Amino acid sequence: MTQSRQQPAGRAQVLRREAVVATVPVALAALLAAAGPAAAGTTGTSGVGDPYFPLAGNGGYHVGHYDLTLRYDPGSRRLDGRAVLTARATQRLTRFDLDLQGLKVTGLTVDHARAEHRREGQELVVTPRRALRQGQWFRVTVTYTGKPGPVTDPDGSPDGWIPTDDGAFVAGEPQGAMTWFPGNNHPTDKASYDFTITVPEGHTAVANGVLLGRRTAHGRTTFRWHQPEPMAAYLATATVGKFKVEQYTTRDGIRVYNAVDPREATAAAPVLKKLPSVLEWESGLFGPYPYRAAGSIVDRAPNVGFALETQTRPVYDSAPSLSTLVHESAHQWFGDSVTLTSWKDIWLNEGFATYTEWLYAEQHGGDSAQKTFDALYARPADDALWKFPPGNPGSGANIFGTPVYARGAMALHALRTAVGDRAFHRILRAWATGHRDGHGTTAQFVSLSERLSGKNLDRLFHKWLYTPGKPEKP
Ligand code: ARG
Ligand code: ZN
Repeated sequence: MTQSRQQPAGRAQVLRREAVVATVPVALAALLAAAGPAAAGTTGTSGVGDPYFPLAGNGGYHVGHYDLTLRYDPGSRRLDGRAVLTARATQRLTRFDLDLQGLKVTGLTVDHARAEHRREGQELVVTPRRALRQGQWFRVTVTYTGKPGPVTDPDGSPDGWIPTDDGAFVAGEPQGAMTWFPGNNHPTDKASYDFTITVPEGHTAVANGVLLGRRTAHGRTTFRWHQPEPMAAYLATATVGKFKVEQYTTRDGIRVYNAVDPREATAAAPVLKKLPSVLEWESGLFGPYPYRAAGSIVDRAPNVGFALETQTRPVYDSAPSLSTLVHESAHQWFGDSVTLTSWKDIWLNEGFATYTEWLYAEQHGGDSAQKTFDALYARPADDALWKFPPGNPGSGANIFGTPVYARGAMALHALRTAVGDRAFHRILRAWATGHRDGHGTTAQFVSLSERLSGKNLDRLFHKWLYTPGKPEKP
């Protein structure tokens, strides 16, 4: 869904000081000193180097698994959490960061030993008692508590833990995951997840993947969710509400779990009914659906203004249209399974999901993709569609702007026109299957397209992705 709110550009970033923790006990300081003179090069960086979100993610380690245990009380809006991260150091580390915004950390251990930690803006700076060796697996346990709320994205959208009248709408693109769990909050780092979420009886907590079980005792219900395939933090959810739940298994063996706010149920029903056929149609185009679980979370969250392709189970702020369901489903291949490495490449998500809407219409009695393309191309040169090129949005405030969605889709249509339908479909499928459960960059997509079509496509991609203003006649 296109966001068109205009908002202040990037928030001032908190600069991190390189000072050594003043509170390190003497014995510990001696130990750290003994660890070697290279200490200055052994601190993990505060970000992974994303130009649009410099503090997103952290350097020096990768997370393999998150085990999140949460308890949420919608009445008081209080969240109690424990996050256990199993991670591997990619360099020697005397210190590293996690991303966490707000909330209060009540305990932190690294490999079961209490670790020094402090907060600096969205960075939770951890100094383990012993330095971590390069290649070493380690476990970080963080207990925390507080009343989570969303961050405001550069485009003005709320992002993260967004309280509703009966729970919380939880969606984290691009940066909101840090509002409800500490982690490595950049899409370059994908991990498996387990969620154990306790809510008052009568409420439902919906996360990603398969439901392992639910248990009610003493007026509270605990839901256990398991997401085995790698997932970027921004795609995690733990949405809470009073939901009507429907569960079934598709012909292809995909386990569907739909959670619907009863106030949205009538409007949502005819669209949700189509989920299996939409996933089947998309599988026909892009290759097998990447996950064993699927479904939808239809909330009533009037101040959110967007849906998100939360992995396996998109979350909608109200009953979705069929084209929105097609869009968020397409993201399961493009964005969730094949994940960007820099937010600048966002057209790989939104352009592809939007073009899937066009293809769906074309093949289901609606407008042809060519007609949709032509109608967009007819827009005057001063239209918002041409405000910036989709391959270079320029800032985090633009990543969900019209050019990313619509001109991104136009770029794919231009590719299809240039290489023909057969090669185009081979490219889409090879992209989804070749990078499944991994990552992809624009440069890789361009070279794949050239390889499979046998054509030099430099000019085409340059024109549609990178050239400012309205491109010349196609
Ligand atoms: N990826 C979502 C979609 O295409 C949009 C997320 C918008 N998020 C935001 N913070 N503006 O449906
Ligand atoms: Zn999208």
